[in-house]
Amino acid sequence: MSVESAKKLAAYKAVDENFPPAAKVVGVGSGSTVVYVAERIGQLKNKHQFVCIPTGFQSKNLIIDNGLQLGSIEQYPDVDIAFDGADECDPSLNLIKGGGACLFQEKLVAASAKTFIVVADYRKKSPKALGTNWTQGVPIEVVPNAWVKVSSELKKLGAKKIDLRSGGNAKAGPVITDNNNCLLDVDFGAIEDPEALHTKIKALVGVVETGLFCGMAQKAYFGEESGEVSVLAK
Ligand code: A5P
Repeated sequence: MSVESAKKLAAYKAVDENFPPAAKVVGVGSGSTVVYVAERIGQLKNKHQFVCIPTGFQSKNLIIDNGLQLGSIEQYPDVDIAFDGADECDPSLNLIKGGGACLFQEKLVAASAKTFIVVADYRKKSPKALGTNWTQGVPIEVVPNAWVKVSSELKKLGAKKIDLRSGGNAKAGPVITDNNNCLLDVDFGAIEDPEALHTKIKALVGVVETGLFCGMAQKAYFGEESGEVSVLAK
């Protein structure tokens, strides 16, 4: 089973098993797995009876391209269900997110949702602590002129390596998020207490949000190499 097929199977099953028939407001996340979530939601016969709330630029286009109604979180702050991908998921359903630079709006929508469902392929499932599978660091969104100060504070919190995410060949300079901020990818090694780490980072001046999503997801659907879909639930 290819990774792409695994993503599609997980996304379709997650929508099929969780989409509330009477949903009015639906969160659509970001990344390559959510492409299949939007595709599946776009196949629903009642797709004109609910609005979809995006988590960023890519997500907005997925909603439009699948013929779904677009709404904003300001118009519809009470979300019935949200679906999103993850970069790593631990056995307690804590997540690292932000590999696609969309973590702030993803967290805003997830925090507004009655139910938050994760869709991913088998590579995202971590048997142990966060930071063991996803080793490129916890994404942290920072106000641009605060990145040096925040970086020095993060070292005091145990950061082993800090990268200001760069645009690579596509841009000279840092990646700028949908909210006009920068991203730090911060390696803390294995994270034994993600909630406590999140709280400490969030308290730093200049930090907008962290990619640690603790206690937010109710279920995660993983497309496995075998072609099955495994489900982790609270
Ligand atoms: C976006 O910022 C991320 O949080 C994505 O949700 C995450 O990177 C999952 O992406 P894939 O579905 O492409 O693995």
